[in-house]
Amino acid sequence: MSASQTRGPLHSAPLTQEWWRTAVIYQIYPRSFASGNRDGIGDLPGITRRLPYLRDLGVDAVWISPFYPSPQADAGYDVADYLDVDPLFGSLTDADDLVTIAHGLGLRVFVDVVPNHTSDEHAWFQQALAAGPGSPERARYWFLDSDDGPPNNWPSEFGGSAWTQVPDGQWYLHMFDRKQPDLNWSNPEVRAMFLDVLRFWLDRGVDGFRVDVAQALVKAHGLPDFHGDLHAIFDGKVPAYTAPFYDQDGVHDIYRDWRQLLDSYPGDRAMVAEAWVNPLERLSRYVRPDEFHQAFNFAFLQTPWNATALRTNIVESLQTNDAVGAPATWVLSSHDVIRPASRFGYAYDHISPWLAAGEPAPDITTGTRRARAAAMLMLALPGSAYIYQGEELGLPEVIDLPADARQDPTFTSSGGEILGRDGCRVPLPWEREAPGYGFGASNTTWLPQPDTFADLAVDQQTGQSGSTLELYRALLTIRRARQLAAGDMDLLDLGVELIGLRITTTTTTGTTQVVVNLADNDWPIPAGMKVLIASHPGVTGSVPSDHAVWLDVS
Ligand code: NOJ
Repeated sequence: MSASQTRGPLHSAPLTQEWWRTAVIYQIYPRSFASGNRDGIGDLPGITRRLPYLRDLGVDAVWISPFYPSPQADAGYDVADYLDVDPLFGSLTDADDLVTIAHGLGLRVFVDVVPNHTSDEHAWFQQALAAGPGSPERARYWFLDSDDGPPNNWPSEFGGSAWTQVPDGQWYLHMFDRKQPDLNWSNPEVRAMFLDVLRFWLDRGVDGFRVDVAQALVKAHGLPDFHGDLHAIFDGKVPAYTAPFYDQDGVHDIYRDWRQLLDSYPGDRAMVAEAWVNPLERLSRYVRPDEFHQAFNFAFLQTPWNATALRTNIVESLQTNDAVGAPATWVLSSHDVIRPASRFGYAYDHISPWLAAGEPAPDITTGTRRARAAAMLMLALPGSAYIYQGEELGLPEVIDLPADARQDPTFTSSGGEILGRDGCRVPLPWEREAPGYGFGASNTTWLPQPDTFADLAVDQQTGQSGSTLELYRALLTIRRARQLAAGDMDLLDLGVELIGLRITTTTTTGTTQVVVNLADNDWPIPAGMKVLIASHPGVTGSVPSDHAVWLDVS
């Protein structure tokens, strides 16, 4: 029944045991996690108050999306000052308190670094505008002359041209919103500035960084026109390096410098790349031993609910990461993509991370069932895994937000054709009966919460057998106890529509078998195998379609 392994397992346990190799890291999107006041926007004191919840969930670390001073044109990914906290979210003292309290609870903390672009309200950009063409201040960005429209045909990821003209006639590059001018990383001042940013936060005790659009910092020499299809790149169908603004080889030198800096600090600091590059071999270049520690496996996130496709992704991910000695880093959701409980509920493969206007409503029952099975797969796989806030509650994407409530710039810049990412950013429900479901001290929330959040609130799911929250808690407990992420792993041949893993660890007793059933019919659990946990408590003798089990086979 098993793929016989005369040459050793598909994946062998890592040789070293640094924490980040197997860590489960929880993404906090600050404006939507918890608020410590009445303004309806989440903040650092709100996060700190809820940290015990995360300790009890069983994660190892948190990554906090940007909380720096920002005009919030892209929800904080437009940074006006890398060395402070936006009053919207609190103060530097609040940040220090958060790190101290997290450490006291045994949680590590990553903060977000946004090095591709600043806000147009950053002092550097303001100085560049004032200094004028040809100045050293403009040389920190991409300011170009062009008499005949934009300097090249590059599209902004948020729609329209990637170039905006300033009153003196020059154009500046922005791969995202016009309020997010791209920095010129061939300028040594830019490199030096970011090393200072990293030092600032490392000195304050953070354990590492999530690095925004890590693949985009270096642009091809001469900024040549782009003749490809951006959407094919986003959907993983065309290698990212075919665009002159992604995955250029020069980016790696930047991260080698950063790695040296992190390594000069005590305490196993680490960094994870947000790099939407493909194929997986290109992604593995970011996690060579002298670069990043981890890189999000977005190809896994974008794999449809199809056993063959998932198995292929698992094999390729493990092989490409093993080749460079790095852990695979699994991810099912983030603040940028449709929530899994909805994504897996579409009648078609929803590999695009964004929702277009006019798409039908997904089947949430099916989506939730599959999302729970997918979590069981992800949390059993060797390596590290990320959980995006609310994923552990099984929150669906909120697709019916009113247009005037939507704040994601992709909505407006696409003329409403792309609904954007607000639907996965709706403030979390903590307590069913409290105003704003306990999000803050009032019933105000920066995006409206749907009625369906009531039953999904943390207090409704806590202690509730069969709830998604209790499923995640139990999975994290078993994952830790059986050291699943640090074991040898083989794929089992159980049939085309099933995914079977066998995980063996030398340090714990017992071999674990994981079965995810994507077939229409049940999969009978062989005699002698004990169910450790199932994606639904009712699963005992056989595993129904779209369900998963972890079995003790020792
Ligand atoms: C990736 C971030 O995750 C996303 O939210 C942001 O809009 C872009 N990078 C631009 O910073």
